[in-house]
Amino acid sequence: MERILIIGAAGQIGSELTLELRKIYGSDHVFATDIKDPGREVMESGPFQLLDVMDDKRLIHFVIRHKITQIYHLAAVLSGNAEKLPIQAWHINMNSLMNILEVAKMVDEVKKVFWPSSIAVFGPTTPRINTPQLTVMEPTTVYGVSKLAGERWCEYYHRKYNLDVRSIRYPGLISYETEAGGGTTDYAVEIYYSAVKNGSYDCFLAENTALPLLFMPDAIKATVDLMEADPDKLSVHSAYNLGGMSITPKDIHAEISKQIPGFSISYSPDFRQTIAETWPQSIDDSVSARDWGCTYQYDLESMTEIMLEEISKKLNLNTLR
Ligand code: SER
Repeated sequence: MERILIIGAAGQIGSELTLELRKIYGSDHVFATDIKDPGREVMESGPFQLLDVMDDKRLIHFVIRHKITQIYHLAAVLSGNAEKLPIQAWHINMNSLMNILEVAKMVDEVKKVFWPSSIAVFGPTTPRINTPQLTVMEPTTVYGVSKLAGERWCEYYHRKYNLDVRSIRYPGLISYETEAGGGTTDYAVEIYYSAVKNGSYDCFLAENTALPLLFMPDAIKATVDLMEADPDKLSVHSAYNLGGMSITPKDIHAEISKQIPGFSISYSPDFRQTIAETWPQSIDDSVSARDWGCTYQYDLESMTEIMLEEISKKLNLNTLR
């Protein structure tokens, strides 16, 4: 039976992935950890412990003591925050990954590792429309540089030590359970909260900035599908492209306005606009579709409907038409 360790269980992906994995593998088999307490559902649905992935000694003890067989390492400093403290962000993003790869290499029981990469691995010299799996990668942000270096390390551990590391280049993720914090694509979460709370939003990206975005349920399904895929079918051991939808702030504004008619938006692009302009507008994920059958369920319309409904419930507000 699998025994799964989640690092970063209080975060945007971790909080939802923990619950999904507990459904699949049983609550007692999914050990949630973070450096801060997660939300109530993660806390109450199975084991949780405070654990700092930077502390390699405690990490290896934890893995051995709980007979961990799979590790999902989801903790990272995102793109916007990383630009404010580049050296610290590099240190955290890289050393945490190296700790995980080393533990997985040393402890025989650990059979699989998941680590998220990002569209941030691409840069201004990458083709921005339908960005291929294999292409020019010259990221200009410290976050992107750390993700690209991480991809190379994952592939290295696979080639050299036969470690089964799997990874996805997530696009911007949109969810209502747990907010992300510090990312360039976070506008796409903030806009929904602000629409429900205030009926207006001041966007830090310009109106026509297209980026690939994905609704969290599709991201969770993709992650589980990749982790359950037949290893013989996987041809990529760095990270797989994941596309989702190519969307601008203007598109989301128009969609929200259908349900909140007076919703107004203003645009005050900041340093994150410069980051967004170096990232793809849309992604070619045909290799993921071929190797592990990646598909999506949600489009902008169905996602917007759920986002507004769930956020209204959460905030106890009824602003919807
Ligand atoms: N969503 C992330 C960010 O904006 C990209 O992976 O930083």
